[in-house]
Amino acid sequence: MKQTLMLLLFSLLNFGSLAIYAQIEDQCLTCHEAIGDKAAELYKTDIHFVKNISCTACHGGNNQLDDMEAAMSKKEGFKGVPKGDEISERCSSCHSKSEVMKKYNSNLPTDQIELIQNSVHWQKSISGNSNILQCINCHNAHGIVPVSNPASPVYSLNIPATCSKCHSNAIYMRSYNPSMPIDQYQKYLTSIHGMKNRKGDVKAADCSDCHGSHDIRNSHDVKSKVYPINIPKTCSECHSNHEYMSSYNIPTDQFAKYSKSVHGVALLEKNDLSAPACNSCHGNHAAVPPGVQSISKVCGTCHVLNAELFAGSPHKKVFDEKNYPECETCHKNHEIVTATNDLIGVEKGSACSKCHDELSNVEGYKSARTMKQLIDSLDTRIAFAKKLVEDAEQKGMEISEAKFKLRDAAQSKQEARTVIHSFNLDKFNEVVKGKGLTTTSLIIVEARESIDDYYFRRYGLAVSVFIITGLAITIFLYIRKIEKS
Ligand code: HEC
Ligand code: HEC
Ligand code: HEC
Ligand code: HEC
Ligand code: HEC
Ligand code: HEC
Ligand code: HEC
Ligand code: HEC
Ligand code: HEC
Ligand code: HEC
Ligand code: HEC
Repeated sequence: MKQTLMLLLFSLLNFGSLAIYAQIEDQCLTCHEAIGDKAAELYKTDIHFVKNISCTACHGGNNQLDDMEAAMSKKEGFKGVPKGDEISERCSSCHSKSEVMKKYNSNLPTDQIELIQNSVHWQKSISGNSNILQCINCHNAHGIVPVSNPASPVYSLNIPATCSKCHSNAIYMRSYNPSMPIDQYQKYLTSIHGMKNRKGDVKAADCSDCHGSHDIRNSHDVKSKVYPINIPKTCSECHSNHEYMSSYNIPTDQFAKYSKSVHGVALLEKNDLSAPACNSCHGNHAAVPPGVQSISKVCGTCHVLNAELFAGSPHKKVFDEKNYPECETCHKNHEIVTATNDLIGVEKGSACSKCHDELSNVEGYKSARTMKQLIDSLDTRIAFAKKLVEDAEQKGMEISEAKFKLRDAAQSKQEARTVIHSFNLDKFNEVVKGKGLTTTSLIIVEARESIDDYYFRRYGLAVSVFIITGLAITIFLYIRKIEKS
């Protein structure tokens, strides 16, 4: 204490200014430097050192005493080396308190500890003692620099390695969760993001861009940035930002198109988790555009039958030869909409007309034209059959059998939409004519019969009422005649 006062007096006398107080020699630093301690060496580059924060902020003790024992005594409040959760608590004694941070003229957010407490990394603890991750696992303990400094472990180019210290360590991860994959970094390196990141491009997505930093959550958590419903937004933070992506040669319309597509509407508006988010087609860590050859595999993970039929179709070979992407050629990629009959046929605008006309690929041209006629007539017949059934129903006729068959007809239409991927007229015919049109004919016959039946009964009733009335009048007149006579 005496020493402190002496020093203070000394500096006041010498410089006449209180501001210099902060520059008074820090005995912790001086002595630890002298003994060649790495912590002290690192500390000289530390942002906290720059802000005149002493070793005592995290370790306690008295930095004005040059005597080791005294400086690091319990009496002087020395706390030693923090362990486990104590570490994050020490950091948060400043970082979670805006009034403390304001004293240092800092406007940094003060939510780190709160976010971490709710993150996946604080939901499991090491043998019940302390949590998995402390501030220093990502920021270091000494030599902490601002996150925008390329030397920071959480600078974009360093993040993959920082996370992977744990996430690529099989033995370490197994001790928490044996089923947790440990291939994220390896896969990431094969992605466009990873390759760019390795080459020094800080704009390409790193682990934190997709997962968050303090608020990392399990991917099944609805608040996770990689929960299926949140993924399109996470990716589009960059991919829809025209300015951000302006130095690259790729469009920024993926989200705009996707959100209007049948997939986007299903996922984002109907919360249908079976619909694909960006990563279902692009992969999580190995995010690349699916290559021409692999698109059908990607789509085929969900649309199994379509992909199988396509693989056995005459298109398979020609598409492979010409390098046409299998499904995308007719359905596009981000703006996939509900398929309609307009895709089929030889009119301008149909998918078939891109390659088939009267002069080229004529076989397919003829088939496409027939297929279109067939499927259109199936639609017309189904609509007609439906109208008749409704009509009969309204007239109170028992028509449940035909109604049941209507469902079969609709089913054949759906089957036809799938079987078209065989691009085989015979197979298509089998479904449209063999099932669909046959069924609709049966329904139409049945419905017509019931309607005829209705009219027959109705007219029959009228006729019998007429006859009975006539008879009654005749009898009445006859009786009167008898009475009179
Ligand atoms: C005069 C030299 C001297 C001063 C002053 C000094 N230390 Fe130390 N300190 C040492 C030495 C030497 C060791 C290693 C002692 C040991 O291993 O037991 C050490 C150890 C430490 C440790 C590690 C303790 C442990 O349990 O492993 C911390 C933390 C530490 N000092 C912080 C401080 C702080 C904070 C101050 C200022 C309040 C300070 N020291 C002042 C010399 C000093
Ligand atoms: C911002 C908080 C903070 C400041 C400031 C700080 N330390 Fe530390 N120090 C820590 C933490 C946290 C650990 C524990 C590190 C670990 O567990 O890996 C630590 C550990 C140590 C250790 C134990 C050995 C080691 O290197 O891990 C020594 C010695 C030490 N600090 C000395 C110092 C000295 C000397 C200063 C000032 C020059 C200082 N520290 C400033 C947080 C701090
Ligand atoms: C999983 C790694 C990780 C852990 C653990 C972590 N941080 Fe961070 N921290 C980051 C990343 C990454 C950033 C970069 C900014 C961003 O993306 O949010 C960051 C940014 C910061 C910033 C700059 C302001 C801000 O919030 O963006 C401060 C201050 C900070 N962290 C303090 C802490 C403190 C205090 C703790 C412990 C309570 C902590 N961090 C734990 C990864 C981590
Ligand atoms: C005595 C209060 C105090 C303690 C304790 C403290 N910090 Fe800080 N920290 C600050 C101040 C002040 C700044 C500079 C803020 C600024 O520049 O706006 C800062 C800056 C940082 C930054 C740089 C943020 C950026 O990108 O600008 C990181 C990272 C950080 N601290 C992490 C930690 C960690 C980790 C610990 C615990 C091991 C810790 N701090 C303990 C006060 C503290
Ligand atoms: C100190 C080691 C360590 C570091 C560093 C670390 N993690 Fe973790 N992380 C873990 C452990 C352990 C788990 C929990 C595994 C379990 O039990 O399910 C985990 C869980 C996760 C999960 C949840 C996985 C799931 O189940 O969906 C994500 C995502 C994650 N970490 C991402 C990151 C990112 C991104 C970084 C870097 C910014 C990072 N981690 C840094 C150890 C670490
Ligand atoms: C382009 C975005 C993106 C990047 C970059 C990214 N991830 Fe992921 N990560 C995801 C998605 C999406 C999931 C899967 C969510 C799911 O299962 O539905 C995921 C899942 C995880 C999981 C859970 C286990 C698993 O593999 O499914 C961990 C752990 C993880 N990521 C860590 C990391 C680490 C570490 C990095 C950096 C090397 C990283 N991620 C980079 C998007 C990303
Ligand atoms: C932090 C910003 C950022 C985020 C978040 C991000 N990306 Fe990227 N992505 C980029 C940049 C930058 C490129 C490089 C563009 C280039 O070189 O053409 C890229 C490239 C790609 C490419 C390769 C495009 C090509 O043909 O070159 C695909 C595919 C991709 N990202 C998908 C995704 C998906 C899916 C997600 C979400 C899971 C995502 N990205 C999240 C910034 C981001
Ligand atoms: C149904 C599958 C599917 C979904 C969902 C999907 N993509 Fe794609 N994406 C593709 C295909 C296929 C390509 C084009 C590959 C080709 O033609 O070379 C592509 C291309 C890209 C490209 C390269 C540039 C371009 O536009 O051609 C980027 C970037 C991209 N997608 C990002 C995204 C983002 C971001 C999302 C989510 C909003 C997303 N994708 C959703 C299948 C999909
Ligand atoms: C040559 C053009 C063409 C190609 C290539 C193509 N389709 Fe289709 N797709 C169609 C047509 C035509 C329809 C039916 C339209 C209608 O009448 O409703 C259709 C309908 C669909 C449907 C809705 C019907 C159903 O089965 O549920 C899905 C899903 C579908 N296609 C997926 C795919 C997938 C996956 C691939 C790649 C393996 C693919 N398509 C390749 C033309 C094509
Ligand atoms: C993760 C699973 C998944 C993947 C991958 C996927 N889809 Fe889909 N797709 C769906 C679901 C689910 C629907 C139904 C959405 C709805 O109607 O609510 C659908 C609907 C469709 C439809 C409209 C069906 C109709 O009745 O008209 C077409 C066409 C289609 N997908 C084509 C594709 C193509 C092409 C790809 C690959 C580029 C693809 N899908 C990738 C799940 C997937
Ligand atoms: C990207 C170009 C392309 C598109 C789009 C395309 N085809 Fe083809 N198709 C071909 C080529 C090339 C052949 C092989 C030449 C031939 O026999 O006509 C072929 C063959 C066929 C065949 C087999 C002909 C035979 O030999 O019996 C049928 C059937 C067929 N296409 C139907 C269609 C229908 C229906 C559509 C639209 C839904 C369509 N194609 C769209 C390129 C295409």
